Amino acid sequence: MPKVLDNVQIGPQNWKMLVRVPKLVEKARPGQFVIIRVNEAGERVPMSIGGLDRENGVLTVIYQVVGKTSALMTTIPAGGEILDCVGPLGLPTHVKKWGTAIVVGGGIGIAPIYPIAQAWKAAGNKLYTIIGARSQNILFYENEHKAIADKFYACTDDGSYGHHGFVSDILKQILDSGEKVGMIMAIGPVIMMKVVANLTKPYGVPTWVSLNPLMVDGTGMCGGCRVAVGDTTKFACVDGPDFDGHLVDFDLLTKRLNAYKEQEKNSFHRFLESPGCKLADSVKTLVK
Ligand SMILES: Cc1cc2nc3c(=O)[nH]c(=O)nc-3n(C[C@H](O)[C@H](O)[C@H](O)COP(=O)(O)OP(=O)(O)OC[C@H]3O[C@@H](n4cnc5c(N)ncnc54)[C@H](O)[C@@H]3O)c2cc1C
Ligand code: FES
Repeated sequence: MPKVLDNVQIGPQNWKMLVRVPKLVEKARPGQFVIIRVNEAGERVPMSIGGLDRENGVLTVIYQVVGKTSALMTTIPAGGEILDCVGPLGLPTHVKKWGTAIVVGGGIGIAPIYPIAQAWKAAGNKLYTIIGARSQNILFYENEHKAIADKFYACTDDGSYGHHGFVSDILKQILDSGEKVGMIMAIGPVIMMKVVANLTKPYGVPTWVSLNPLMVDGTGMCGGCRVAVGDTTKFACVDGPDFDGHLVDFDLLTKRLNAYKEQEKNSFHRFLESPGCKLADSVKTLVK
């Protein structure tokens, strides 16, 4: 069973877990994801690759506590184990020299955009990085991103740090400056990816987004992760998770993500009331 080397809180709702999975790490590429099961009775949760330490075979997963399984993950101590970690799944992000390339990460999306930024920089691109979150205490990976970006911008919705406003404000300023941008990749909340894609379309700059629909098997068998892209239906787990943002039906994605809200809430509350629940009080209150 994969060993958890570390599992620490890095923000009000975010944790960083280091898992030793040498074979997976050897094959994994930026943009791909894994599916974790915490225990035999647990559900399968897709998590993006938030970092790859190839020398030591260690995968970084940055996760946000939003429900039962992500809350359960906080209870695994350093030195503990998870039942399994399957992957790498999905297609890697395109890596090429485009000239100037921009990565945009919002909220938990700041994590998966980082290995992509590393790969794009290594490919010889001039790399601009824009990260954003509701408030300063939710921002993370700032030093990591700063260390590789040719230009770095942080944004907060409440103005507590960096630009007071959204990542799309900074992106618009760059596009309006007339600088030729070859490629943009945005990962974050669906609404952020939609706004970014709508913004870049009239400028004609290719813009990829990483979609996070509900997934079950992660191998193209169940159809749960279907998304509408242009005139076609795609399975995000095998055809993605990256897609051309100018073609994605973001409204349908939002609708499908909310389809089981009531069941998810009930499942979390049943978990809280179960005798074996070992959640810290501070974690119990995170899920609304
Ligand atoms: C390709 C991909 C990569 C992801 N990467 C990350 C990541 O790096 N970090 C992170 O924090 N989260 C990531 N997610 C989302 C993560 O999988 C969900 O937050 C997690 O499954 C929630 O489970 P839960 O039991 O805690 O919450 P639940 O109460 O079960 O659900 C809360 C919300 O999480 C989402 N969700 C629930 N089940 C799934 C599922 N099986 N597949 C996808 N989304 C689900 C839904 O929006 C749901 O409303 C990713 C999702 C996908 C598809
Ligand atoms: S998760 Fe089942 S088909 Fe993609």
